[in-house]
Amino acid sequence: MENFTFYNPTRLIFGRDTVAELKNEVPKYGKNVLLVYGGGSIQKSGLYDKVVSQLKELDINLFELPGVEPNPRLATVHKGVEICKRENIDFLLAVGGGSVIDCTKAIAAGAKYDGDAWDFISHKVMATDALPFGTVLTLAATGSEMNAGSVITNWETKEKLGWGSEATYPRFSILDPQNTFTVPRNHTIYGMVDMMAHVLENYMSHSPNTPLQERFLESILRTVIETAPKLLENLESYELRETILYSGTMALNGMTNMGMNGDWASHNIEHAVSAVYDIPHGGGLAILVPNKMKYAVEKGVGVSRFVQLAVRVFGVDPAGKSDNEVALEGIERLRAFWTSMEAPSRLADYDIDDSQLDVMVEKTMHAGPFGGFQTLDRADVKQILQMSL
Ligand code: NZQ
Ligand code: ZN
Repeated sequence: MENFTFYNPTRLIFGRDTVAELKNEVPKYGKNVLLVYGGGSIQKSGLYDKVVSQLKELDINLFELPGVEPNPRLATVHKGVEICKRENIDFLLAVGGGSVIDCTKAIAAGAKYDGDAWDFISHKVMATDALPFGTVLTLAATGSEMNAGSVITNWETKEKLGWGSEATYPRFSILDPQNTFTVPRNHTIYGMVDMMAHVLENYMSHSPNTPLQERFLESILRTVIETAPKLLENLESYELRETILYSGTMALNGMTNMGMNGDWASHNIEHAVSAVYDIPHGGGLAILVPNKMKYAVEKGVGVSRFVQLAVRVFGVDPAGKSDNEVALEGIERLRAFWTSMEAPSRLADYDIDDSQLDVMVEKTMHAGPFGGFQTLDRADVKQILQMSL
């Protein structure tokens, strides 16, 4: 293993009707509360009324920032920071999916920073302080509810960048599977692809002696693979939503991959694609991850890890086959599983052709060659994108 320090201060409140815990959690952090949410799903589902009626019973002043976009934008972060400074906000409550939570993280840090929030999002400076915030999660996908990461898009410059700091862990996150019943089929699928992609990014690792971590990661993949088809037949099953919700959190809260350096190259490329085309993150990953993995096998990078994945997770029989054949068969089964859920498999599924290919390559290369498992340069990224057209 790599040497490591594990730190995760988020209080995870999980289960049926746990929104009622808001009345115990919110008063810990002050009187002026900013409620942050998205484009209307929480009003439609009735969650907005539940949350607001809870908050109104408390002795607090409630402010609201609606309209956070999927792939949240810097302009909305600016709006939120302005409200925080003007109204002396003490605490933020994000109610929504990863986009609402990520936007809230940037607002919380921006409220404690004198310059433009883009400075810390673009890694020009480190965000060292943030207002406290909590979340009520409505979509199983990103793990943002129990990690410090946030991804924000600057639509003017077409840059989508990930950042985070020790100050941007949620103080608490409330996860009630019932709040995910209304997630539409397509976003349910994208969310499951995203959590599997997080596991795979961690699994693509050269860190030595991580047998337990690998088994943890494989068990999340197996669990999602077993649960996904049943959930897609029954989107309002409490038990199936519960399994997927917990899987999404465990896929990216740092607990399963301690002492392992991951890859994150597929995420880097996907962020560039959605910076230019504004496509859903999980949809982009469904297209890119298998091609990125295939590219590694073709270049002879980490083949034994892909063989292990193929055999242990996808049940590939290695008898009489070369390592490369086993590895590629596993990757094909991953692709087939995602397409069986009707996830996209080519950029053309989003009407993306090669006209902006060089732009996407440039965006991906913003910080130079990258990838913890296989270092990718410009030419590599271009080939992976070409394989994905
Ligand atoms: O905006 P509203 O009306 O809430 O609708 C949302 C949105 O249209 C809807 N939705 C959410 N919960 C719902 C619901 N609709 C009905 N019922 C519900 N219960 O779903 C749509 C997508 O929501 P969004 O929050 O964008 O999805 P997701 O959670 O997948 O978040 C995606 C964002 O997170 C970033 C992605 O890049 C993307 O910007 N990521 C964040 C990470 C992190 N912070 O750790 C890691 C990830 O790898 C990822 O990059
Ligand atoms: Zn992701």
